[in-house]
Amino acid sequence: MPAGGGRWGSFWEQRTRQLQSQVRAKEDKIAELETENAVLLLKLAEYKGKIEKSRSEATRISTLYNKQQRLQRNTRSALSQLDGVIQKLNQDIQAFHSSSRALLRDYQDEYQDRVSAIVTAVQRTRQSAETLLACQAKVVHLEQALQDVSARHQLERQRRKALHNSLVELRGNIRVHCRIRPLLPFDSESDDPVLQSSSISREVAHAVDDETVLVKCDRPGHPLINKTYHFERVYGPAESQSAVFGDVCPLLTSLLDGYNVCVMAYGQTGSGKSYTMLGPHSDDGPVLPLDPQSDLGIIPRAAEELFRLISENPSRSPKVEVSIVEVYNNDIFDLLAKDTVAAVSGVKREVMTAKDGRTEVALLASEAVGSASKLMELVRGGLQLRAKHPTLVHADSSRSHLIITVTLTTAACSDSTADQACSATHPGEQTEAGRAGRSRRTSQGASAPQPVPGDPAGRAEQVQARLQLVDLAGSECIGVSGVTGSALRETACINRSLAALADVLGALSEHRSHIPYRNSRLTHLLQDCLGGDAKLLVILCISPSQRHLAQTLQGLGFGIRARQVQRGPARKRPPSSQMEGKRRPD
Ligand SMILES: Nc1ncnc2c1ncn2[C@@H]1O[C@H](COP(=O)(O)OP(=O)(O)OP(=O)(O)O)[C@@H](O)[C@H]1O
Ligand SMILES: [Mg+2]
Repeated sequence: MPAGGGRWGSFWEQRTRQLQSQVRAKEDKIAELETENAVLLLKLAEYKGKIEKSRSEATRISTLYNKQQRLQRNTRSALSQLDGVIQKLNQDIQAFHSSSRALLRDYQDEYQDRVSAIVTAVQRTRQSAETLLACQAKVVHLEQALQDVSARHQLERQRRKALHNSLVELRGNIRVHCRIRPLLPFDSESDDPVLQSSSISREVAHAVDDETVLVKCDRPGHPLINKTYHFERVYGPAESQSAVFGDVCPLLTSLLDGYNVCVMAYGQTGSGKSYTMLGPHSDDGPVLPLDPQSDLGIIPRAAEELFRLISENPSRSPKVEVSIVEVYNNDIFDLLAKDTVAAVSGVKREVMTAKDGRTEVALLASEAVGSASKLMELVRGGLQLRAKHPTLVHADSSRSHLIITVTLTTAACSDSTADQACSATHPGEQTEAGRAGRSRRTSQGASAPQPVPGDPAGRAEQVQARLQLVDLAGSECIGVSGVTGSALRETACINRSLAALADVLGALSEHRSHIPYRNSRLTHLLQDCLGGDAKLLVILCISPSQRHLAQTLQGLGFGIRARQVQRGPARKRPPSSQMEGKRRPD
């Protein structure tokens, strides 16, 4: 480089150095600035991060704020709604308060009313209790009075019965007891569709009390029946065999006192005659001795009672003889006759009139018996021969009238000792029948039977008294019983003989001069009982069933007619000598 060039060179060199130092300073400055820039960038990044963070925080806060705003709005609307509800509730509470105040007032008023009502009621109850006490005292007094009146009534009833009995004895009335049997299964075998389908009572006959029968029938389409019938005694369906026998018993005392006695069962077929006289299943034979609950009928009970009474006074033991007959188809058959030819059906006999006017069956077999069981053995034998035939009404129908006669023969008491002996003999004379008999004997002195002193021939004197127990065959309506052939003839004979019996009672009650005893063998045989001096008891048996109404009314009519018969007082059998009483045939 030129000399002029060497100054330039140092200048440039200086200048370059200068510039280089400037560059270096600038580079340092740049490095410093870059460092500063980096720091600033870092800070910027940091601030950016912070800004970003703040922005998201702001967003979150703004969201929260928005949420809070919404919540505030919701809360405000809920609060305003709640305000409405609270106001409504307040109104309700006020209304409730006012209504409960009203209720309380009402309740208090009512309470007051009730309390005063209770006070009044208590006062009234107190008064009632006092009245009740007074009434109770009155009731006790009235009950006492009623008991007195009932006792007096009972006494009067007994007196009336006793008087009635005496009257019956004095007038010689036939006693009629009516027995209504229970309704039985065969009563319902009715052809009548009205009865079968309806609830109308099948019972038309009722025992109103122990003396009255009521027949009441109000079946549609039939005439109304409402009628009462009175008898000495009425037995309802529930009354036992022993109750029936209880009323028959005093007659046995009369028998031992020397009176003739007859007990006869009358009624339509199936009405309970054989049941009353013999008991159920009479064919099997009643078994003695009786137990008190047994169903045995009058005949076995009478047998036992008779021998019991006899055993009470062995010194006068009468001789007891039995005969048994049946009246079948208007013929009399002796059921005790040991005839080999006619043993099966008995032997035909005829009615005779004895010298003393008594009717008897000629040649009648009779057997002496010494005990009730022996007597019943004979009855059993007789029953096996008795005619029977089933009918539509009654499967075990008796087709004949059965008459069992028990004859008591006692040696007559002497005049001076008779009354003492007789009165000592039978405590049963304390019965009404016995008392009536005795009082009559003393009051009617001359007419009373007196034992006759022994006759000059030295024959012993005896008193004979007869007990006749009669189980009649039943009346029946031929159309209803459905019989044909020989049974039809039996039925016709039964009905005819029962009609003859009713005719005899009719003639006796009207005191006609002619009594048609001989229209039938039955009435002829029973002549002494019906019109004579025997004590006669008719047990009228009736069915309670609607089905048998016509026959029941007919039977009750018969009973009423029998009650009207007045035969004069029954008399003791007078003593007779052993040879007396020879019979002559009629
Ligand atoms: N009081 C009663 N208690 C219970 N059963 C009775 C009574 N009376 C009758 N019977 C029954 O009624 C049925 C008919 O009675 P029962 O044989 O005595 O009639 P009846 O009147 O003798 O008839 P019939 O004239 O045809 O011989 C029998 O089965 C009998 O046992
Ligand atoms: Mg019978």
